[in-house]
Amino acid sequence: MKILVFTEKPFAPAAVKAIENAVNAAGADLALVERGTREDLLKAVADADGLIVRSDKIDGEVMDHAKNLRVIVRAGAGYDNIDLEAATAHRICVMNTPGQNSNAVAELVFGMVVMMIRNQYNGTSGFELKGKTLGIYAFGQVGRNVARIAKGFGMDITALDLFVKDEVMEAEGVKPLHTPEELFAENQFVSLHIPATPQTRGSIGYDLMMKMPQNGVLINTARKEVIDEAGLMKALEERQDLRYVSDIKPDAAQEFLDKFAARVFFTPKKMGAQTAEANFNAGVAAAEQSVAYLRDGWNKFQVNK
Ligand code: 3PG
Repeated sequence: MKILVFTEKPFAPAAVKAIENAVNAAGADLALVERGTREDLLKAVADADGLIVRSDKIDGEVMDHAKNLRVIVRAGAGYDNIDLEAATAHRICVMNTPGQNSNAVAELVFGMVVMMIRNQYNGTSGFELKGKTLGIYAFGQVGRNVARIAKGFGMDITALDLFVKDEVMEAEGVKPLHTPEELFAENQFVSLHIPATPQTRGSIGYDLMMKMPQNGVLINTARKEVIDEAGLMKALEERQDLRYVSDIKPDAAQEFLDKFAARVFFTPKKMGAQTAEANFNAGVAAAEQSVAYLRDGWNKFQVNK
């Protein structure tokens, strides 16, 4: 039994060791390809029974090359990089590892936002989070961790998630909201945690940004695809008080930076889950889930039909 770990963005070395131990303990072999090309992937996957990836794109062509492949585990939360229909057609189970990297992403929200409201540490006077309003868009694992940390900052917290009951949010001291319009209009800070789906792609743009209160800050540690970049740019042009921080560059990153250097910040590569702890947790969970599926058909976190 062979499990291939293919990652453009490598796991921390200690996580790789732990993944290898988990795979070997189940009597399977680990193959590791870091920063590989597509050709490397097509070659390495040819005899793999299981495949572990991060945001690496896995499409039908990859699956065509993988005659033995029965399970793909995305070591992380979002699985928009995997063609689920193709996986189903190939009788491959796709799973994610929910919750394993969510604290890391939530901590980065505050790392980026504090840097932005302290004017990227340029020595000038900024502002604070205490007593300010925060709107969390999607109250899943990352959103809940963001709420937990925001309480420590003394923020006033609301959230929008139509899949979560109001009582669940209220039990965590979070006021439920029910429309994106309310979320943007009522909160100086809005943190995005929605997945990239046909419904959410390009859904955050000019109209929502223009509803934000004075000195609004949009924080995106979700996916760049959920932003309507032209609309966001127009809003930043018309309102000098708005700011945008994102964990991954937008397509028009250079134009944003040229126009609004002091009001935007982008990580060069998605950094939210790039911690020793998140790598370890998500990597080991992915290894254990792969083995459990191959051995016993365990599929608790299956995301395709
Ligand atoms: C996720 O969906 O789990 C995060 O976006 C992390 O992605 P990464 O594994 O590419 O860092």
